[in-house]
Amino acid sequence: MTGLEESRDMERVSPVTVVLHCLLAVSIFFLFISSWWMLSLPLPSEVFTYRELPFQLHKNIGLTVFLFAVVMITTALSRKRQSKPGARTKLERLTSFDHLIIYILIFACCITGYLSSSYSGWQTQVWWLFNLPSWTNENDKLNILFSDVHIWTCWSLLAVISVHISAAIFHAAKNDGIINKMFRL
Ligand code: HEM
Ligand code: HEM
Repeated sequence: MTGLEESRDMERVSPVTVVLHCLLAVSIFFLFISSWWMLSLPLPSEVFTYRELPFQLHKNIGLTVFLFAVVMITTALSRKRQSKPGARTKLERLTSFDHLIIYILIFACCITGYLSSSYSGWQTQVWWLFNLPSWTNENDKLNILFSDVHIWTCWSLLAVISVHISAAIFHAAKNDGIINKMFRL
């Protein structure tokens, strides 16, 4: 292992971040795949209530993803504060930028999804334990507006994640130590 690879190996993220990263990735893939299924179900009526479970699941996993991302970004910022000052390589700056964009888009997806849901007139039950306080009245225009923004932010997130995963696979193939930061406990 070269000196550069050894120093990258030293910068490994904490086990908490490793576990949250896996949960975040699985949850986000689930949100994308399940949302297309949930929206293809018949619209709710007295007879058809099929949408209730997948919508509640989608909203709860989305809210939980928000919490994972808050913990991960807080950990990353405190790691950055503790790291030795010094010139950062172009690759390190690019990686930080990629992570920042991913975090911003995750927060944007969660906030727009939450706003769309708040104006839909449907309650959100937090993991079937209690109802999230509702602070708005049903408003179709705002529901549609935030639903559109939700879709666009989600598509942007998918695009950035594709670049992120391609870069991770590229570095794994190069065996330059970057992948070890995340995938060797
Ligand atoms: C939905 C899917 C994914 C999301 C949202 C995601 C998000 C993130 C985020 C936010 C970070 C920064 C962690 C930090 O703050 O320290 C990160 C780092 C990382 N991710 Fe992912 N990730 C996903 C999937 C993947 C996959 C499938 C791989 C591997 C093939 C991967 C490999 C890595 C690696 C190696 C790092 C560390 C890079 C470094 O610190 O230089 N990610 N990811
Ligand atoms: C990273 C987090 C999230 C991702 C990746 C995500 C992804 C998606 C996707 C891909 C759709 C389907 C859009 C379409 O094709 O029409 C969708 C719909 C929806 N999401 Fe999310 N979502 C997330 C978080 C949330 C949160 C936190 C909530 C609410 C608390 C939420 C509420 C909704 C609702 C209500 C819809 C249906 C919108 C409609 O009726 O058109 N989402 N989501």
